[in-house]
Amino acid sequence: MTKSVRWEEFDKILVIQRLRDLVSRWWNIQINFTDEKGLIRGVPEGKFFNPTNMICKMITQDDRGFTGCRGTAQQTTVETMNSKSAKISRCHAGFSALSVPIRIGNKYMGCVFADGFVHESTAAAQREAIAAYLRVNFPDSVAEHQKHVDSLTVLSKKELQYLTELVNLVVAEILLVQRDLSTEKQKVERLHKELEQRYNFDRMVGRSAPMQDLYQVLERVCESDATILIQGENGTGKELIARAIHYNSARQNNSFVVVNCGAFNDNLLESELFGHVKGSFTGAVKDRKGLFEEADQGTLFLDEIGDTSVAMQVKMLRVLQEGTYTPVGSTQQQRGNVRILAATNKDLATMVRKNEFREDLYYRLNVINVTVPALRERREDITLLIDHFLQHNAGKTKEAVKIIAKDCMEKLLNHDWPGNVRELENEIERLCVLSGRDNEIAAAFLSPRIKDTLPDKFSDYRVHGKLKDALEELERRMIEDGLERTRWNKSRLARELGISRAGLIMKVDKYGLEKRSG
Ligand SMILES: Nc1ncnc2c1ncn2[C@@H]1O[C@H](COP(=O)(O)OP(=O)(O)OP(=O)(O)O)[C@@H](O)[C@H]1O
Ligand SMILES: [Mg+2]
Repeated sequence: MTKSVRWEEFDKILVIQRLRDLVSRWWNIQINFTDEKGLIRGVPEGKFFNPTNMICKMITQDDRGFTGCRGTAQQTTVETMNSKSAKISRCHAGFSALSVPIRIGNKYMGCVFADGFVHESTAAAQREAIAAYLRVNFPDSVAEHQKHVDSLTVLSKKELQYLTELVNLVVAEILLVQRDLSTEKQKVERLHKELEQRYNFDRMVGRSAPMQDLYQVLERVCESDATILIQGENGTGKELIARAIHYNSARQNNSFVVVNCGAFNDNLLESELFGHVKGSFTGAVKDRKGLFEEADQGTLFLDEIGDTSVAMQVKMLRVLQEGTYTPVGSTQQQRGNVRILAATNKDLATMVRKNEFREDLYYRLNVINVTVPALRERREDITLLIDHFLQHNAGKTKEAVKIIAKDCMEKLLNHDWPGNVRELENEIERLCVLSGRDNEIAAAFLSPRIKDTLPDKFSDYRVHGKLKDALEELERRMIEDGLERTRWNKSRLARELGISRAGLIMKVDKYGLEKRSG
């Protein structure tokens, strides 16, 4: 719950308006809110809520009178701080004031107070005091004031009890509204954070054919509300894709909620997803919203879906099939409007065959399948990704974008990247840090596993047979590899290999590589 109270909102709440009206019409009593310092809140310019009792009206319209009322409000607030329930005090002009503390958690936020009446048991003395106050401060038309004094509201003990209940109701309503407002605020804050992240996430990088195919699928699926299963090895960008789908969909202004299904045991995951009601298990001290509810109108990303137990899979299937779920400990079904995206690095089809994953859930999730290519299947994207991460690092450190020395780049291109994009990203970040102020990053800074890898493709050189054949084979493989790496940029490859462009074209022809380039 937030610490700041949104006083200005309370005035707009219908129940509070009604209660105020009621009290004002019946008894000419006004209800006001003060903050913890005793300042009148929720009414523009710190005025009092429209007093209907003629004497209070006159007093609040007069500068000195108003100052007196403010003083009373402050004193009342201070006095109410330690009281457990309603407290009765006396205002500077002699009226009674009833105040009830507002506490959020253990913090005193101020009070609601009702004033402008006299109490039956002390009515005569109070009338006397009020008349005296008016004689001193408003010496004109004393006779008229006396009429108002005579017609003041006198509350019996029972009526005072009733008024107390009404003021308590106002406090209860304030607490309720404040709770809703702070949840709303948290939601907005979370949404903003998500949007910022998205900005930082940049777009997906990759120009290779598999990535182009992926973009095409993504473009088509963003518009729909279909469930999507994103599959791919570790660190291939599954979450990045899920975010991209959400932020390019009609749901972009609502929440994107991630749940890592592998991080919870069954009981916790169920309560995390569907929420629970107070008392449903030890520790459930109050009702708690589940992530399904949090994601209402937005997207729920079920990450690591392959790690959920079969029992949990049944519950998820129900939500996907019927759109309904039941909070833990509740008997009431809830319905939500949530788009589901799921991701896993496991081979769900094989798991289905081994009865480790429910077939019906698999088909429900797999309405549209997005398979993210591993980095080794799109090696031509490596340079682009390296560039992207170098720029990203420069943005973070506010230094010039670094460059990678030739031998270092060769090692980077030859590595197999079992950890995919994430591993590459981490390696570049590490290189940027270790290279310090150097603008060019040398191979010496590479992680040992990358520095020490031999170029795999060429590790099986032929060392027998005719030298001519072995050289030709090496030549063919270097050209083949180079064409793929440079995306068939023959001028660049010719430069790299130290031969003429025409010479390269001849060799490409000789080895029949052109056809394979498509
Ligand atoms: N195509 C891409 N372009 C730019 N950055 C990418 C790309 N793919 C992945 N990344 C980056 O790599 C990192 C890992 O991506 P992400 O977390 O989305 O992968 P994941 O498949 O969910 O990984 P895991 O299997 O470990 O959950 C992130 O920092 C992400 O920004
Ligand atoms: Mg992930």
